[in-house]
Amino acid sequence: MSEPLLRIRGVRKQYGSRLVLRSIDLDVAEHQVVCLIGGSGSGKSTLLRCVDLLEVVDDGTVHLGESELTDPRLDANLARRRIGIVFQAYNLFPHLSVLDNITLAPRRVHGVPRRQAEASALELLDRLGLADKAQDHPDRLSGGQQQRAAIARALATEPDLLLFDEITSALDPELVGEVLDVVADLKQRGLTILMATHEMGFARQVADQVCFLEDGVILEQGTAEQVLTAPRQQATQRFLSRVLDHS
Ligand SMILES: Nc1ncnc2c1ncn2[C@@H]1O[C@H](COP(=O)(O)OP(=O)(O)OP(=O)(O)O)[C@@H](O)[C@H]1O
Ligand SMILES: [Mg+2]
Repeated sequence: MSEPLLRIRGVRKQYGSRLVLRSIDLDVAEHQVVCLIGGSGSGKSTLLRCVDLLEVVDDGTVHLGESELTDPRLDANLARRRIGIVFQAYNLFPHLSVLDNITLAPRRVHGVPRRQAEASALELLDRLGLADKAQDHPDRLSGGQQQRAAIARALATEPDLLLFDEITSALDPELVGEVLDVVADLKQRGLTILMATHEMGFARQVADQVCFLEDGVILEQGTAEQVLTAPRQQATQRFLSRVLDHS
């Protein structure tokens, strides 16, 4: 098997005396979608934030391809250019049009000329069904449209890896599908995605791997089919019966 694109080894993260991640090991192969599931406070967001270098790990390493992201000598801003991240909400700058939101990083950080950045952004918006929203400010868009625009912004710098943190959990139920359809399309196109999600049905359809986190540990990991339909750990079974009861 080829080297994974993302390789997490022994990652530990502590806030004060509280150990939030305890020795996390995780591989994400190129073109794979890996879903992180688990209860509130289990460490999903913290793990994603450690990969995006928004948090400094206390121990362990994260490699993206050949480069070690956790190397303290590495320029975090440079490394972060290869990663796109989308959060639960408030991703877009409210004072900029959708188009300017998307072209900001390509122009300012990657030095792409305005015309070229705008042409690529319009293409992306078209693909995500937002061609007519380019000139609007985010507050004119529905929540689902805002999240699709946020995904377009994350894609605009052509990242190697996408990180999604509960990107549908702030949406009204009828808007969840349109955002998940975009994620499924990205997988079809061969992108590599690590995402925290509460959408078990979606994880089952799209994920190559599912990791169940509890208390900062990956308690169970396997194919979506195995973890979601035949979990081996009692904690995973308890978690799944709880969330499936509520859906
Ligand atoms: N900046 C911080 N300072 C202190 N503690 C934090 C900080 N960020 C997160 N934590 C704690 O770390 C633990 C893990 O939080 P995290 O946000 O990673 O969980 P999560 O799995 O994403 O939960 P949720 O499903 O609610 O989003 C929680 O106990 C949280 O209170
Ligand atoms: Mg979270």
